Amino acid sequence: MHPFQQTGAILFALASIASAQSSSATPSSSASPSSSSNSGILAQTSPAWLPQFAAPSGVNSGYPTGALDTSTTLDKATLNLTDYPEPWAAATTDHPEVKAAYNAIDWTKVPDAPPNKADSNGDITFGDYDQNTDPYCWWSDTNCVKPKVNYLPEDVYYCPKAGDWGLNYDDGPYNPSDSDALLNNYSEPVLYNFLAENNNQKATLFYIGSNVVTYPAAAKRAINDGLVICVHTWSHPAMTTQTNEQVVAEFYWTLRAIKEAVNVTPKCWRPPFGDVDDRVRAIAWQMGMTTMIWNKDSNDWNMPGDGGGNLPWDTVDGYFEGWVEARKNGSDNTVGTICLEHELNNATVKMTEKWLPTLQQTFDVKSIHDCLGITQPYWEDKWVYPANASGNSTIGNSSSTASSSAATSSSSNGGSAAAAGASSGSSAAESSTSSASIMSLPSVALGFAMVVAGVFIS
Ligand SMILES: *[C@@H]1O[C@H](CO)[C@@H](O)[C@H](O)[C@H]1NC(C)=O
Ligand SMILES: *[C@@H]1O[C@H](CO)[C@@H](O)[C@H](O)[C@H]1NC(C)=O
Ligand SMILES: *[C@@H]1O[C@H](CO)[C@@H](O)[C@H](O)[C@H]1NC(C)=O
Ligand SMILES: *[C@@H]1O[C@H](CO)[C@@H](O)[C@H](O)[C@H]1NC(C)=O
Ligand SMILES: *[C@@H]1O[C@H](CO)[C@@H](O)[C@H](O)[C@H]1NC(C)=O
Ligand SMILES: *[C@@H]1O[C@H](CO)[C@@H](O)[C@H](O)[C@H]1NC(C)=O
Ligand SMILES: *[C@@H]1O[C@H](CO)[C@@H](O)[C@H](O)[C@H]1NC(C)=O
Repeated sequence: MHPFQQTGAILFALASIASAQSSSATPSSSASPSSSSNSGILAQTSPAWLPQFAAPSGVNSGYPTGALDTSTTLDKATLNLTDYPEPWAAATTDHPEVKAAYNAIDWTKVPDAPPNKADSNGDITFGDYDQNTDPYCWWSDTNCVKPKVNYLPEDVYYCPKAGDWGLNYDDGPYNPSDSDALLNNYSEPVLYNFLAENNNQKATLFYIGSNVVTYPAAAKRAINDGLVICVHTWSHPAMTTQTNEQVVAEFYWTLRAIKEAVNVTPKCWRPPFGDVDDRVRAIAWQMGMTTMIWNKDSNDWNMPGDGGGNLPWDTVDGYFEGWVEARKNGSDNTVGTICLEHELNNATVKMTEKWLPTLQQTFDVKSIHDCLGITQPYWEDKWVYPANASGNSTIGNSSSTASSSAATSSSSNGGSAAAAGASSGSSAAESSTSSASIMSLPSVALGFAMVVAGVFIS
């Protein structure tokens, strides 16, 4: 079962917990040891253990300045798969490169949290964990986003400015199907072209390493479109159930795949199912990545689609309708949104095709990075994204393929400007009344079963 399978009530419980937390928290700069970034929340060490790859062909060397390529077919060549673990199988830990990455970590700074366990149904068990003290800031149990480890920054989970919508997609790049032609009306580059053709929309993408190695041309298209690429692990396990070696390997192979495909090294990652604690955060941080969660969940992965679930379309429509209405009626006025969405299957892509235009009329839709003011999301600092890169902003008018409205004035931000600073209150530090007890997470075993079935979620 997915944590959000029981939709309605839980969704809104989570949303209100997240928004309660939001009202007390801004991404902290004091927690960050970083001196190389402009955001104060990025990780501190450039990964030194990745191989040197020849620059991949067909990849921009920096942010795009001309017209975007919106051709509808992409090369299906894979990376050299013999160099990688089997796609969608567990990330292998015994490779010398993984061991080098492991050995580069200062394990004295990583909390000694035991890997979590799953029950016979494949759900993570919370039984032994002390929810009240929450020693490891385990999001799955308490929605904790503020690490107990002093060198770790707070997770990113909202846009600071009310009215901003930090657009993002998990689980890509969505590979084409050899067996079901219908799905290829939704697999990449369909979503990326849709974004390019709708106001030159930018977004942050959380990529699965296994999907990158089998479809690197889609990753190339994404980066050439000015989208931001982050890590979403190699095989999509619940990361707190993994050993230290497995955590390193899940990160390592994904970072390597992205580096080989598009020649960048992301500073950002999102935990599958949101399952993260301070042990996993600390490893991610030392491997160069900040943790990014969300404050709204569309549950789009659970709609009836290829490998999806049974959540009615109307229900997901209802969430979007509610968010749009709340923004319009002024009740959504404290912080901006990071809403979990997916490029997982035909249903999730169709949902974006349906809702993005409405979101663009209601919110200032941009990448998560843009809403945070992060212009250098990779360790390769030649990649500098413009601030205000998309939507209704005045800057970043970089693509002539954008629709005529791409570079409209930023006056749309006016209504929310006053609310932008409203996140400095001190209440609600931790609403750990938490929905944890009603949440559960798929186990590695279930994850594996889903992989076999060609199913992968969040
Ligand atoms: C793929 O990688 C393997 C192992 O590194 C290597 O032996 C082989 O020559 C490579 N194949 C190609 C086509 O580059
Ligand atoms: C895919 O989309 C095209 C139009 O873009 C349409 O003509 C075709 O019928 C669609 N194919 C399927 C299998 O839905
Ligand atoms: C999505 O794909 C599945 C499998 O091909 C199909 O059964 C379903 O009708 C499709 N839904 C949409 C909205 O395209
Ligand atoms: C605004 O809209 C939201 C979502 O429909 C609703 O929950 C809320 O009660 C509304 N608030 C006001 C003041 O109308
Ligand atoms: C943002 O731009 C879109 C498309 O140009 C426009 O329709 C919409 O009204 C704008 N949004 C706001 C809040 O001004
Ligand atoms: C981006 O736009 C906001 C208003 O939406 C403005 O306050 C900010 O200064 C802009 N940033 C840059 C770098 O121009
Ligand atoms: C926006 O794009 C148009 C067309 O490419 C260009 O002529 C114009 O100079 C650009 N404006 C800015 C502010 O970059």
